[in-house]
Amino acid sequence: MDGKRKPSVLIENLRTFVDSVRFRTRQWVAAPPSSAKERSRVVSRSFFLHYHAARIHPFTLRPRATLGLGLLSFSLFLILTATGILLMVYYTPSVERAYASINDIDAIVAGGKFVRTVHRWAAHGMVLAVVLHMARVFFTGSYSRQRALNWIIGIMLLVLTLLLSFSGYLLPWDQLAFWAVTIGANIAGSFRELTNALGVTAFLDPGGFIKQLLLGGENVGQDALNRFYLMHVVALPLLSAVLIALHFWRIRKDGGLNRPPDLDSQLSGEGDPSGHPEQPKSRAEPSVLSWPAAFWAELSVVLFSLASVMLAALLVDAPLREIADPSMPENPAKAPWYFLGVQELVSYSAFGGGIGIPLLLLLSLTAIPLLDREETSTGIWFAGQAGIRTVWHSLVFSVIITAGVIISGATLGWFRDWFPGISALLNILVNQGSCVAVAYLWWCRRTLKRSGSTRLAAIAFFTCALVGVVLFTSVGLWLRGADWKFMI
Ligand code: HEM
Repeated sequence: MDGKRKPSVLIENLRTFVDSVRFRTRQWVAAPPSSAKERSRVVSRSFFLHYHAARIHPFTLRPRATLGLGLLSFSLFLILTATGILLMVYYTPSVERAYASINDIDAIVAGGKFVRTVHRWAAHGMVLAVVLHMARVFFTGSYSRQRALNWIIGIMLLVLTLLLSFSGYLLPWDQLAFWAVTIGANIAGSFRELTNALGVTAFLDPGGFIKQLLLGGENVGQDALNRFYLMHVVALPLLSAVLIALHFWRIRKDGGLNRPPDLDSQLSGEGDPSGHPEQPKSRAEPSVLSWPAAFWAELSVVLFSLASVMLAALLVDAPLREIADPSMPENPAKAPWYFLGVQELVSYSAFGGGIGIPLLLLLSLTAIPLLDREETSTGIWFAGQAGIRTVWHSLVFSVIITAGVIISGATLGWFRDWFPGISALLNILVNQGSCVAVAYLWWCRRTLKRSGSTRLAAIAFFTCALVGVVLFTSVGLWLRGADWKFMI
């Protein structure tokens, strides 16, 4: 008897709950709370309204405004957390057991291979989504004014995303993982090229220190696996979660998403009384209730990301090569794809490519909101016609310069090949990577001089940097073979 009654009571309770949510939503949408007390009660009871203003600008809901990329990054982060917790149930972080436990997840655990594959593709997807989201934020000028802080939090999230993905790479303990992480750790330790050139390594060795910190020794072993595991499942996800919460809080504090200055006059057919682009200020300003409109928009992005990684997991399995063998180096040993651009630069100069240029790029990106303080044309893709022209010109310039340097280096060689005795210090300063970086900076300065606009100069720099990342990564990914030689 009992066994029969229980499910019906459960279903009855569930129905009542759904009905009450529906009733409250309808009631709230039809007649929003009018008193301050009612308003605060609605907000304090709703998780959704803790992160969204009750009313938002309709612009926020336009797919073209954000392309949903920030939410896509967040959704992939959630998928990674959920699948990561499931994988932790069976994974053992020990050199003896790691590979076998991954094998068990693939072969024995029900649905294990699918969960592992979803985790893998979501990790790659998140790196891509975060980079594209940064490009969307940049090209709509949404880093300016009070959003500078959120831009900087974003840069930290970008670095954390790369580290999260990289720290997970070692865990399967197969040949791919072992040698990719060996390369990554060598890149992190490439400070030594500089200290060796200066002859100070014996008493000042930051490269050795970083490598020691990362691996717990000179080589990848149990100590490294412990560190990578701890970083991957505890430190980096926690730090990312805190920063993501801060990122979302800042979006609310900054008055919602950035939007074009004259949008309100376009929508309402009259001028914006405040003339201020950032905040919803007057009652005349168009706005919609965030619940449920924003909820449906956000849910569709989450479902899209879930469907995409599940489909990818059904089509292509996550790789698992032979068990790691420290005595059998892979040739070519390649870093994960998102570090292949850096590995290509390292082949020109270890310090310049591994530390100098990536650091310069990160610092430049961080400094963009401080250097470009123009407030016109923010919220508009590419800042209008002049920006679109700058993007095209910068694209052509950077493709010619970058491809030219890569091809000439591959066919004619470089100083280091012509004069083998060249000093290491000179090579750090004058290599293919540094020449390309100087050319990009020169182009940015030229754009600034010609246009007098810091916004257009920033667009020129960002476009060049993006092209550089794509081209150097592509070379590392597709054109480099055994002994890092060109395959064509
Ligand atoms: C884990 C990584 C990240 C997550 C989960 C995330 C999430 C989001 C979300 C959901 C939004 C609002 C809607 C949207 O644009 O899609 C947003 C906006 C924003 N993000 Fe991110 N983001 C991340 C990384 C970054 C990075 C790398 C940057 C830049 C370097 C950045 C800078 C910003 C800024 C400035 C805004 C406000 C844009 C505006 O007002 O239009 N974020 N982010």
